[in-house]
Amino acid sequence: MPGLAAAEHALIAEVLAGLTGPRKTLPPKLFYDEAGCTLFGAITRTPEYYLTRTERALLPRVAAALGKRIPPQAMLVEYGASDESKAELLFSPLRIATYVPVDIATSALAKLAGRMRIRHQAITVHPVAANFLAPFRLPTTTASTPRLGFFPGSTIGNLGHGEAVEFLRRARLALGLGAPLLIGVDLEKPLNILIPAYDDAEGVTAAFNLNVLVRLNREADADFDPALFRHRAAWNTEFRRIEMHLESRVPQSVRVAGRRIKFAAGETIHTENSHKYSEVRFASLAARAGWRVAESWTDPNRLFSVQLLI
Ligand code: AVJ
Repeated sequence: MPGLAAAEHALIAEVLAGLTGPRKTLPPKLFYDEAGCTLFGAITRTPEYYLTRTERALLPRVAAALGKRIPPQAMLVEYGASDESKAELLFSPLRIATYVPVDIATSALAKLAGRMRIRHQAITVHPVAANFLAPFRLPTTTASTPRLGFFPGSTIGNLGHGEAVEFLRRARLALGLGAPLLIGVDLEKPLNILIPAYDDAEGVTAAFNLNVLVRLNREADADFDPALFRHRAAWNTEFRRIEMHLESRVPQSVRVAGRRIKFAAGETIHTENSHKYSEVRFASLAARAGWRVAESWTDPNRLFSVQLLI
């Protein structure tokens, strides 16, 4: 399609690859357009989505403990930083000098940088608009600047085990010798808590999932009718993960970037995995990437963990 930017070509190629295979899939990064970021924010405020509030409640305790390990004036590199609300809990206890939020959502990053200039004037901000799964450059600093990696939210759960190991390995190299990585990891728990977290009563998660179709209509020349799909969240016992799908309610054919994509009734597009870990399984995953769990913090109900990898 002439006139399209390279990024749009790449998006269309990725979307078509996902929709023309034997099992239809879409990459979860597509969720995070402007509407998607707003909907994700709304998910974090639903009563069912325990992850964000549980992790936030842990961070002041984590920050206090980290003060002994992280020298002042460090650079904080946050992977998947759609906002600064978690990093903020580390800024003053750790006396962070430089903040490097890395995220695919460009508009969210611009807003973040704007707020930082007002609310945290003393901190230098270097936003990096990038997919954190691909290699990217960290701002150059003096060799003596301490670094701390931060990957909150259990975003690592979106990755398969192989991809997660690859990400952890790359982060270890990018952060450099001696730099720890603080990571939020959602823990396995009973399905009566887990499923509603991904299928809330108000339907916010459903809207978040369906929004990907709205985005494809706009950015990939598609003609999905979101009303003809339903949101599904299910636990995959074998892979220890929540899967989100969009299920076609009827047999239908949809146009995407000039192609016809057929759906049987009940056929799904697999849009996201959210892997859940036991502390033991996460420690062995980290070990495969050369990390060791130095400390781990969890809430009294053991819903969520924040772990320090060194
Ligand atoms: C932002 C990837 C951590 O998997 O829990 C929330 C995204 N998906 N509800 C998660 C999400 C459905 C979220 N992460």
